[in-house]
Amino acid sequence: MKEEISLSRVNRLINSGNVILVTSSYKDRSNIITLAWHSPISIKPPVIGISVAKTHFSSELILKGEEFIINIPDWSLLDKVIYCGKHSGRDVDKFKEAKLTKEKANRLIRTPKIFECIGSIECILRDYKEIGDHYLFIGEPIYVEAESELFKQDIWDTSKADLIYHLGSNFFMKSSKFIEK
Ligand SMILES: Cc1cc2nc3c(=O)[nH]c(=O)nc-3n(C[C@H](O)[C@H](O)[C@H](O)COP(=O)(O)O)c2cc1C
Repeated sequence: MKEEISLSRVNRLINSGNVILVTSSYKDRSNIITLAWHSPISIKPPVIGISVAKTHFSSELILKGEEFIINIPDWSLLDKVIYCGKHSGRDVDKFKEAKLTKEKANRLIRTPKIFECIGSIECILRDYKEIGDHYLFIGEPIYVEAESELFKQDIWDTSKADLIYHLGSNFFMKSSKFIEK
């Protein structure tokens, strides 16, 4: 079961820099992109930035649809994460090919979230900047949720949830230790 998380804690879902799957949509097209480049930008109000190459299909959908959802995959989804990061939605339906299930979002009407993910952040596109060959899309989170067994006291319990980290190229690592100091 996923439970709603306070917007003031939205940064805690991606604070560690874990790889995310971003869903977007416009008219009858929806898509998934794998992203390693993202960041919380402000706490009050909550603002999150994602960096997407201008040539990617997702950039087109986010610019036109003006919304996106950050979905949090765990280690069990690594193969699907790689698939979504190596194929373009211009050529394939990644929901179908990666066998990821579209689920109705809690607030956004057009963009689906991914059922198999352990959390999601629904964002309205508030602004964007062209920076080199990427767009920095600036999103205002309007609804955040996380698996209650895995996200405790506003922190991912990495002794139970292995988040995915991208080292570059074909190299990944997972979070498996949870240390309190
Ligand atoms: C682990 C991983 C991380 C990635 N991170 C980013 C990223 O931060 N920004 C980006 O623009 N592309 C990133 N990519 C590449 C895109 O996911 C990839 O080019 C994708 O096929 C684009 O899909 P689209 O054309 O359907 O939008 C990453 C790929 C992988 C495998």
